[in-house]
Amino acid sequence: MTSRRAFIAGALSAPVLMRLGGLAFAAPLPRLGDLAKQKGLFFGAAITSEQVTAADGYAALLADQCGAYVAEWESKWGAIEWVRGHREYDSVDTIVAAAKSGGKMLRGHTLLWHFQLPPWADDAVLGSSGAWDELVAPFIFETAKRYAGDIAQWDVVNEVIEPEWQEPDGLRVTPFLAMRGRGYIADAFHLAAAAAPDARLYINEYDLCYAEDDQEKRRAAMLALLERLIADGVPVHGLGLQTHLKIGRTFDASRYRAFLDDVAGLGLDLAITELDVGEGPDPKGDTATRDRRNADEVRKVLEVAFEQKRLTGIVTWSLGDAVSYTRVSGESPDNRGLPFDEFLAPTAMHATLADLFAQADQRSAASS
Ligand code: G3I
Repeated sequence: MTSRRAFIAGALSAPVLMRLGGLAFAAPLPRLGDLAKQKGLFFGAAITSEQVTAADGYAALLADQCGAYVAEWESKWGAIEWVRGHREYDSVDTIVAAAKSGGKMLRGHTLLWHFQLPPWADDAVLGSSGAWDELVAPFIFETAKRYAGDIAQWDVVNEVIEPEWQEPDGLRVTPFLAMRGRGYIADAFHLAAAAAPDARLYINEYDLCYAEDDQEKRRAAMLALLERLIADGVPVHGLGLQTHLKIGRTFDASRYRAFLDDVAGLGLDLAITELDVGEGPDPKGDTATRDRRNADEVRKVLEVAFEQKRLTGIVTWSLGDAVSYTRVSGESPDNRGLPFDEFLAPTAMHATLADLFAQADQRSAASS
């Protein structure tokens, strides 16, 4: 048995019924979290407190396949501080408890984002003097401190660049930029570092992997921001690459490789933080054709990311299609963009991820 097949055999989970030429046979399914861990990486998924505590097949699959969890929405400001001045952490505590009892690594998402703000945090409130010190900073500090020692990697800020806003440095115009100036990103990182000194602190961003000009501009803006933060002594440790792939976009491996080399060259870690494949509103072909196309899209992009020694792990944005944001949001109602479909059957993407982990170079686990 080749070392790769032996490697995958070592991380097999409960047999699943598979069909070949009319014969049904039980074949063990590789556990992606175990495969990743054997190489000093992590594999996990975005979850909700409901999903991870339910007594159903999806909860069992999450426990079986994931070595890491991240809250899909419940650790965002708008979900925690629904009432001004009163921060409710029960849902996140549930997720942290499930991760700890299951031996899972935790990513935190996200301490500062211009979306899913508390309902009371309108422009007038966020535009008032003292808003940062009285409202934003306390949320960042208390949340990071509460999970110090539990959450290994925090997305301290999410989606802070947007060249379409025509800012000289490509920053997105948000209430935080208006209230605190360009230093708000550094301030958020310093708060998180003071609250959770052992956490690895990340910037998380989307649309950094394809060749189109808009993504080239985004890569340039992100690299320049990271260089400034590091030059200013800001405690940023990694870049989260959301990696919401889209069928039909143009990919240039050399451009993506050069960008990742530049980021890693700054001494930063990397994580694929929200992997899924968007097929668009009317995907063509039968299920097998679609699954193959989506798995190939993952392979061509992740093969380049796996070349990076500083890659710490992969998170998919949900594990199964039935609860994927791509479907729930209505963007692509029957999207097949994850390792498991709505019937909890593995898609071709599962085998692709298993193979990528099997081929991955060994990392030092400490970096995650
Ligand atoms: O707030 C209600 C809550 O009261 C209710 O009990 C619950 C019942 O399901 O729903 C909650 O609502 C929504 C939640 O999703 C669950 O459906 C939130 O209002 C809604 O904002 C939230 O959407 C999330 C979205 O980010 C905004 O936070 C999605 O789940 C989540 O998949 C999506 O994830 C983002 C990443 O954070 C950043 N990158 C892009 C990615 C996809 O858009």
